[in-house]
Amino acid sequence: MRIALFSSKPFDAPFFDAANAAHGHAITHLDVRLTPETAVLARGHGAVCAFANDDLSARTLDGLSAVGVRLVLLRSAGFNHVDLERAEALDLAVARVPAYSPYAVAEHAVALALALDRKVHRAYNRVREGNFALGGLLGTDLHGKTAGVVGAGRIGAVAARILGAGFGMRLLVADPHPDPAVLELGAEVVEVEDLLEAADLVTLHCPLTPDTYHLLDAAAIGRMKRDAILINTSRGGLVDTAALVAALKGDRIGAVGLDVYEEEADLFFRDLSDRGVPDDVFARLLTFPNVIVTGHQGFFTREALSAIAETTLANATAFERDGAVPEENAVCAARHTA
Ligand code: NAI
Repeated sequence: MRIALFSSKPFDAPFFDAANAAHGHAITHLDVRLTPETAVLARGHGAVCAFANDDLSARTLDGLSAVGVRLVLLRSAGFNHVDLERAEALDLAVARVPAYSPYAVAEHAVALALALDRKVHRAYNRVREGNFALGGLLGTDLHGKTAGVVGAGRIGAVAARILGAGFGMRLLVADPHPDPAVLELGAEVVEVEDLLEAADLVTLHCPLTPDTYHLLDAAAIGRMKRDAILINTSRGGLVDTAALVAALKGDRIGAVGLDVYEEEADLFFRDLSDRGVPDDVFARLLTFPNVIVTGHQGFFTREALSAIAETTLANATAFERDGAVPEENAVCAARHTA
């Protein structure tokens, strides 16, 4: 089928072309974000393929439906950015890639934690300037400390295994339905409040839902140990950034590693180096020496990109063949056939 692939970056095409050899779809790569204004570019395509920061609000879905789109292929696991009620009302099928490489995201979370703990980001700059002094670079052994994993699903379970079995950390998890694998690691399931009070390292791996929006607000951050490390590679909306900045200013938190940011849609996946950062809260975050921000790159490994392309195109093939996307990948099923 004809697929308009929005927010296409140069790194997308090789993976989609390789996977498409087995599917034979006609893919139009569009380097613009999908928004209510750009939805019209999908005219003539039965499907659109969208990424995490594309706009899939009611207005965009209306626009897509009006130009004949029947299928929305999310090349992400998260679907918090889709107005599912509207999609259902418009009879648009929405498919996602529920799992591609949990290792990619979990390993990135651990990379941020290690870099912050051992001040790798500061050491890197220092050594390049010929400064080999160690002042300010003192770290802490993670071995024997307590890791708190909020959301112990696919990614959280991998993070727990690295931190527990790899580093020898005591494991606490907060999750209403934890992956059984974390229990086999000896993790203790606790309430999120208790986790925040006890953990030296807190890593967020739960989805963004109305229930988890600003899960880490001022009160929750206030429960954390003063020297705790907070890692968020899940969704920016889990953390109240203004409260986080206040905690950093007040020396109320040890270090912060973010791969996601609640207002990232206007920043990430773009080169703004000639213009500067137009977001004052984000800019303030970058001034702290104990903060590392990466631009939503947790998923960005070869293995993950291959798996994303393969599952996305298989979703399109199934929709074309059966009139429905595979049940395990369906976020919203169309009522009629393709
Ligand atoms: P998953 O669905 O396998 O696991 C999520 C877990 O969170 C489940 O076990 C669920 O029970 C738990 N959960 C739900 N509500 C909770 C709450 N209120 N408190 C504690 N736990 C709760 O999802 P997966 O694959 O592990 O992905 C997790 C998240 O990672 C996604 O929702 C997505 O937002 C994010 N992600 C980020 C990427 C990046 O590039 N930075 C890439 C892929 C996913």
